[in-house]
Amino acid sequence: MSFPKEFFWGGATAANQFEGGWNEDGKGDSVCDHMTGGTVDKHRYFTNEIKSDTHYPSHEAIDFYHRYKEDIALFAEMGFRMFRMSINWTRIFPNGDDEVPNQKGIDFYRSVFEECKKYGIEPLVTISHYELPYNLMKKYDGWLNRKCIDFYIRYCNTLFTEYKDLVKYWLTFNEINCLTMSIGDILSGGFKCEDGPAQVMGLPDTKEQVAKRYQALHHQFIASAKAVKLGHEINPEFKIGCMIAGGCIYPYSCNPDDVLLAQKEMRMNYFCGDVQVRGEYPHFTKRMFEDLDISILEEEGDRDILKSGKVDFYSLSYYMSTCSTVDENTLKTSGNVVMGVKNPYLKSSDWGWQIDPKGLRYLLNELYGRYQIPIMVVENGLGAIDKVESDGSIHDSYRIDYLRDHINQMKEAINDGVELVGFTPWGCIDLVSISTGEMKKRYGFIYVDKDNEGKGTLNRLRKDSFYWYKKVISSNGEELD
Ligand code: BG6
Repeated sequence: MSFPKEFFWGGATAANQFEGGWNEDGKGDSVCDHMTGGTVDKHRYFTNEIKSDTHYPSHEAIDFYHRYKEDIALFAEMGFRMFRMSINWTRIFPNGDDEVPNQKGIDFYRSVFEECKKYGIEPLVTISHYELPYNLMKKYDGWLNRKCIDFYIRYCNTLFTEYKDLVKYWLTFNEINCLTMSIGDILSGGFKCEDGPAQVMGLPDTKEQVAKRYQALHHQFIASAKAVKLGHEINPEFKIGCMIAGGCIYPYSCNPDDVLLAQKEMRMNYFCGDVQVRGEYPHFTKRMFEDLDISILEEEGDRDILKSGKVDFYSLSYYMSTCSTVDENTLKTSGNVVMGVKNPYLKSSDWGWQIDPKGLRYLLNELYGRYQIPIMVVENGLGAIDKVESDGSIHDSYRIDYLRDHINQMKEAINDGVELVGFTPWGCIDLVSISTGEMKKRYGFIYVDKDNEGKGTLNRLRKDSFYWYKKVISSNGEELD
């Protein structure tokens, strides 16, 4: 057995990291537009006022806004069958609470989807990928305010109605589980904050802050369930999925305390999926909230809403695994959203993310066993520094190795019986790193000439991995060398 014939090979992006055109054609500013580039210590900064002398990477990003035809043609040349992108909420509703959508924003995405259609590429659209309107942060404290549900549903209603014949696959929130961690305070929660280090730091883990996170998350669960229900009413053919930052956590040893700790941490990986797939909070929630000493406010009818909006498929990002132990004298390692204990059996990327293809097979089996609905891996890849040779070639064999190993493990998972239906590796075209704001941390098959300071021609170049992935797709995952 191998990849199913109709397997969705493709690539993934997000508006805030690749679109640019941040204030063009009526677009409002989103929370991400207030985040500066990376600095020496790799932190990005959040500023409430947008300063004219500061570099904000999302403002131009890689200018997909003006180059989408060229970029989609390159994706088509590789043979993409699916293209994951997000819609910038503020291009449709500039302030988030507007009554009427921005026509130019609607037109832009229609052109993008039509361009995909021309090549037979199926769009996979993330409705919210760190692009909350800044106005909702400032005026309402973001997702802490229940009103955000209505604003989000109005936005979804516009998208579903406008694009019902162009888009079939949707994701309600990117990495919704990030909202349980400080890393999600600004980008996912849109909580009001002072100017200061963003992304890596988030806001302090006080009891009040933790309670805010789970309250905001509850609002996102309700919003997601309502969106699923609404989408199915508008077009019963729609397939609407959840998107979870997938981590794999191993016990560091067979000490039962390590095993229990790993189980507890893995539950944080399952928590959001459990709610969105099963339509109810999992059995461990009560104890979890008691241990955290928090409670959340629910309205009458919320439980029914969750039940009425179960997702059609499960999607995840997967970059790395970590270990858990009660032993405090172990080496630590970090990643995009997780901190954990270093695994001596694994190598790491230049940014310290532990590379573990087998962890993906393990996780896919666990998820499928738990939910038994189709799964897509909608992010995976290696952030690395690329060198352009004098003839314009880029020899990124490290990226090919990384992806080959992960594809092989996905194949194993399919043979294990997992219903895996798509793979869209992250940053199929180089884009801005979310955690560091850098350009030099590249994931793409397509190189974009732009540096950390925002300088460059923005020209696109094909890397070695471009030709390799094209072969992978045309052979449906059989030719991996
Ligand atoms: C995921 C996010 O967590 O990781 C993406 O959904 C992000 O937005 C990706 O870009 C890779 O992380 P980074 O920090 O290398 O850009």
